[in-house]
Amino acid sequence: MAETDEPQDATPNVSDVEVVDAHSEAEAVAAIDAPVERGEPILQVRNLVKHFPLTQGILFKRQIGAVKAVDGVSFDLYQGETLGIVGESGCGKSTVAKLLMNLERATAGEIFYKGQDITRLSGRALKAVRRNIQMVFQDPYTSLNPRMTVGDIIGEPFDIHPEVAPKGDRRRKVQELLDVVGLNPEYINRYPHQFSGGQRQRIGIARGLALNPEIIICDEPVSALDVSVQAQVINLMERLQDEFNLSYIFIAHDLSIVRHISDRVGVMYLGRIAEIGSDEQIYDHPTHPYTQALLSAVPVPDPEAREHRERIILTGDVPSPANPPSGCRFRTRCWKAQDKCAEEVPLLAIPESFKGSDTPAAHESACHFAEEKDVVHVA
Ligand SMILES: Nc1ncnc2c1ncn2[C@@H]1O[C@H](COP(=O)(O)OP(=O)(O)OP(=O)(O)O)[C@@H](O)[C@H]1O
Ligand code: SF4
Ligand SMILES: [Mg+2]
Repeated sequence: MAETDEPQDATPNVSDVEVVDAHSEAEAVAAIDAPVERGEPILQVRNLVKHFPLTQGILFKRQIGAVKAVDGVSFDLYQGETLGIVGESGCGKSTVAKLLMNLERATAGEIFYKGQDITRLSGRALKAVRRNIQMVFQDPYTSLNPRMTVGDIIGEPFDIHPEVAPKGDRRRKVQELLDVVGLNPEYINRYPHQFSGGQRQRIGIARGLALNPEIIICDEPVSALDVSVQAQVINLMERLQDEFNLSYIFIAHDLSIVRHISDRVGVMYLGRIAEIGSDEQIYDHPTHPYTQALLSAVPVPDPEAREHRERIILTGDVPSPANPPSGCRFRTRCWKAQDKCAEEVPLLAIPESFKGSDTPAAHESACHFAEEKDVVHVA
């Protein structure tokens, strides 16, 4: 394929989208509320693009370019699974999350939720999607309004969706949610500053659960917490996933945390997915040089394993998403880069050399020269 600024083609092993042809709003709402079998795709993201315009001038603003924050991202989320998304700061993780939440409008691409493209929905159908897809944010210190009681914070979504908890039933419902996330229901009248970081994140999770969603998008939900508290919150999230049949998108930059909770992992670099596969495929059989470099930097507790691992130090800064390199975006930092890497965009696909084989290395990797490298396994 010739070098192009166009987003990547749909990846070969994302599932076919069964578009639900809803003619009326009522049909769309019915499709959105219909259950999905465990293991079936619940969210199908196709060639998602978000470009933020770069403007110049104070009075007469003119566009001089664009920050290509997300530039052709495709993946599926299956019912009941956790899909981890990892990558360095600025690679576009939070922008993907905001697009999925409809908090940002996509420049191009589609997001199918149960066969309905949510980038085109409005009215009752969009409201139904918003109820079913919730978010838990990174910072439990700033994401909770300090002037609201915990009861008001957790119960606020009921103002928009009173059908989930009628007025007279709200207090009981909020106390039930506090109990579910391991907080004392009697704390309902306390304020956020009266809680620890871990407890505040539990409040954020309770709020995320309030409308009985099917998908929760977690944007760095434990990054601001102490390591010991991180494990407790992760364990809580795993328990809630089983209890409420939830599907998670779990965004983080810490590869070891993502492995702990994820069934599959997508590695992002400069607005695109570099490699995606099951946790075993990504952690034990990575084929993309960027994933290999990230894994080589993960702390290894075992001193002997640490001694034998090869540390790959990436040189150079991450290029600006306003002016990404031609061809492979990772080429300016890749030790394997060749002429082809500057000329042709590598598609996210199972590499030819692994096609048809049952090795765990046979998973999608956007590299012209994808091959396994013995990187020390993460515990
Ligand atoms: N509203 C905006 N206007 C302009 N540029 C933006 C906007 N939001 C994000 N960006 C840019 O888009 C790119 C991706 O940002 P994003 O926040 O999605 O990255 P991230 O992977 O979540 O990073 P981090 O790990 O630091 O949270 C960055 O270069 C960022 O500066
Ligand atoms: S396509 Fe080339 S530059 Fe990109 S990761 Fe592969 S070898 Fe490196
Ligand atoms: Mg972010």
